[in-house]
Amino acid sequence: MTQEELFKVLVAHCKEYGFIFPSSEIYDGLAAVYDYGQMGVELKNNIKRYWWEAMTRLHEDVVGIDSCVFMHPKTWVASGHVAAFNDPLIDNRDSKKRYRADVLIEDYLAKIEEKMNKEVAKGRKRFGDAFDEAQFRATNPNVLREQAKYDEVHARYKAAEDANDLAAYKQIILDCEIVDPISGTRNWTDVRQFNLMFSTQGSNTSGSDDVLYLRPETAQGIFVEYLNVQKTGHMKIPFGIAQIGKAFRNEIVARQFIFRMKEFEQMEMEFFVRPGTEMEWFEAWKKARMAWHVALGMGAENYRFHDHEKLAHYANAATDIEFNFPFGFKELEGIHSRTDFDLGNHQKLSGKKIQYFDPDLGESYVPYCVETSIGVDRMFLAVLSHSYRVEELEGGDSRVVLGIPAPLAPVKVAVLPLVKKDGLPELAQEVVNELKYDFAYQYDEKDSIGKRYRRQDAIGTPFCVTVDNDTLVDRTVTLRDRDTMEQVRVPISELRSIIDKKVNMSNLLRKL
Ligand code: GAP
Repeated sequence: MTQEELFKVLVAHCKEYGFIFPSSEIYDGLAAVYDYGQMGVELKNNIKRYWWEAMTRLHEDVVGIDSCVFMHPKTWVASGHVAAFNDPLIDNRDSKKRYRADVLIEDYLAKIEEKMNKEVAKGRKRFGDAFDEAQFRATNPNVLREQAKYDEVHARYKAAEDANDLAAYKQIILDCEIVDPISGTRNWTDVRQFNLMFSTQGSNTSGSDDVLYLRPETAQGIFVEYLNVQKTGHMKIPFGIAQIGKAFRNEIVARQFIFRMKEFEQMEMEFFVRPGTEMEWFEAWKKARMAWHVALGMGAENYRFHDHEKLAHYANAATDIEFNFPFGFKELEGIHSRTDFDLGNHQKLSGKKIQYFDPDLGESYVPYCVETSIGVDRMFLAVLSHSYRVEELEGGDSRVVLGIPAPLAPVKVAVLPLVKKDGLPELAQEVVNELKYDFAYQYDEKDSIGKRYRRQDAIGTPFCVTVDNDTLVDRTVTLRDRDTMEQVRVPISELRSIIDKKVNMSNLLRKL
């Protein structure tokens, strides 16, 4: 299965098993908006809990808040979002569809890369073990021609991006003869800037100064509450404020599932430090955040840092933690050293002094800030895409398993009476009563035991407990492990501690 096919299968699996549904599907859905189903919400809550506990409980100097989606409109002037939170958009006059100009060009570049990779694959097939990829790429005329084309377009694209030159974007689209995937025509409008913030009307007055924005990041809620938290919590610098919440961006996207949505959730932490110490903290948080990811056991090789070469005007260092998604390494989390940009601008625009008196230095300053920011939904996609696997079994059978890290699994244990008679359902209920206060569970008595195991594998349940006739006699059950499919006989009285060892989140937190 190609990675693209795997992605399609994953999207279908998410729907079939109640993880994610297209929003308002009965009305044919809404682009880039998704709902979480009965399984999805559990996994999502577990991801959020893992982050929250790691940030706030394991760091004495980090506290949490929950600020509102709506904020005073000046917030977004101070943060720079009103002036500069834009994407370059272009419309096709025939299909009436709107696209991101930069994405059209990136897709074009990706196609050139694909062509080169196909040539390389052909060469590998032809030369077998003797194949030298570097030499092939340096000498094969087809690859060289495509590479030259790639380099030329890429250089123009980067220059357009750096200069924010909208006419240059359009010229690249025209020169590369990029067509609208729907109408197949090149009947493009000019490229123009499009602000990504959603806005709505407040109720006090009418007119343009009554515009309310739906926050495009949760971070600003932290900045405007900085003074309140610092004072009421008697916080000493360095300290951090963490928040989980919804954010909204009017993204023009296609085919990216929950990777890029219009309504999504962020887990952000702003760590306030003394100016001049921000690089130390930037490095420390890079390390801490990577450790958080790696502790999940999804393979250290599937993460990498990608340092930003071009820094935003407010940052003096920035890196992404990229994850190996089915469509390649892409940003999962951002870590930014934001200087005093946000607090400084809020101080200017609000006219309120936002300063910290540092008793060790005997002076006041606007604190600098190091931010860690991860999308809950992107993390969800990382976990699911890594976990999904199809396994061939003996006898030509196969099974679909979600090998979700056990502490994050939506259901921790399934309790299954072997048959629906002989008092087994009643005994299984006893087992449920023994487990339900500690673990998310499912009780299932429908279909053959094999089918029930498959259903639990498909939602990633780490353990199945089967109650059979021997249980009536000796109060032992069969405990089946999702990953190894190994079955062991254990007393009901020991179930709790065995399951707990694998699924308890504190074991995960202890690794940090
Ligand atoms: N406060 C900084 C900030 O918002 P960002 O890089 O724009 O930075 C941070 O976003 C993270 O939020 C990203 O790394 C990604 O995980 C997530 N994110 C951003 N836009 C998203 C979208 N449209 N859909 C889903 N997740 C998104």
